[in-house]
Amino acid sequence: MSHTDHADAPTDPTQNGSGETIEIRTPTVEDGAGMWALAKGTGVLDLNTPYAYILWARDFAPTSVVSLVDGQLAGFISGYIRPDAPQTLFIWQVGVDSAFRGRGLAKKMLFDVIARSGASRLETTITADNEASIALFTALARHHGTEITRRDLFGTDLFPPASASGEEHAAEDLYTVEPLRTDT
Ligand SMILES: CC(C)(COP(=O)(O)OP(=O)(O)OC[C@H]1O[C@@H](n2cnc3c(N)ncnc32)[C@H](O)[C@@H]1OP(=O)(O)O)[C@@H](O)C(=O)NCCC(=O)NCCS
Repeated sequence: MSHTDHADAPTDPTQNGSGETIEIRTPTVEDGAGMWALAKGTGVLDLNTPYAYILWARDFAPTSVVSLVDGQLAGFISGYIRPDAPQTLFIWQVGVDSAFRGRGLAKKMLFDVIARSGASRLETTITADNEASIALFTALARHHGTEITRRDLFGTDLFPPASASGEEHAAEDLYTVEPLRTDT
């Protein structure tokens, strides 16, 4: 099996009202560098190494997703199934290129990866200042007819001190959405 083969067939590209072609599909290793560049361009996401995104696109493709607009990488989500909680999809990073925000791409990708994962519970962490991300996952909970809950998870004390890392990392709060409907 080559690295571009996946059990999950890509969704067929669709055209939106503006005549653009939107494609939502699992990532391949060829998307890794673009995912890195997109994460970097947000200026908000913790930037991992290019290698990490390439590795992710290989090993966690079934629980990750990319979106392309007219063939250009416009967004990605990296996620995984928690090894000790096989019904829980953990969403790590969500990024949409600023040129393509506010038109439902993040929601489309999220719905796609959740449906493919078969998970009944979603977890993600968000910093308190990230209104767009909180709005995205709140919209998701609404779509699934359920609640979103928040609790403390990774406090600032767990991260390297500002003196070592350049700036203090904000606390990452755990947001949980469950149960996820499987018929959406
Ligand atoms: C967060 C992000 C992924 C949203 O992408 P997007 O494609 O613009 O989001 P969508 O258009 O699918 O919107 C999804 C929901 O979030 C809301 N939303 C999106 N951006 C918002 C903003 N800046 N402020 C408030 N709400 C916002 C939308 O109104 C929508 O809610 P609704 O269905 O109730 O109307 C994008 O802003 C981004 O890449 N930000 C930088 C990286 C980041 O912070 N990632 C999240 C942390 S992992």
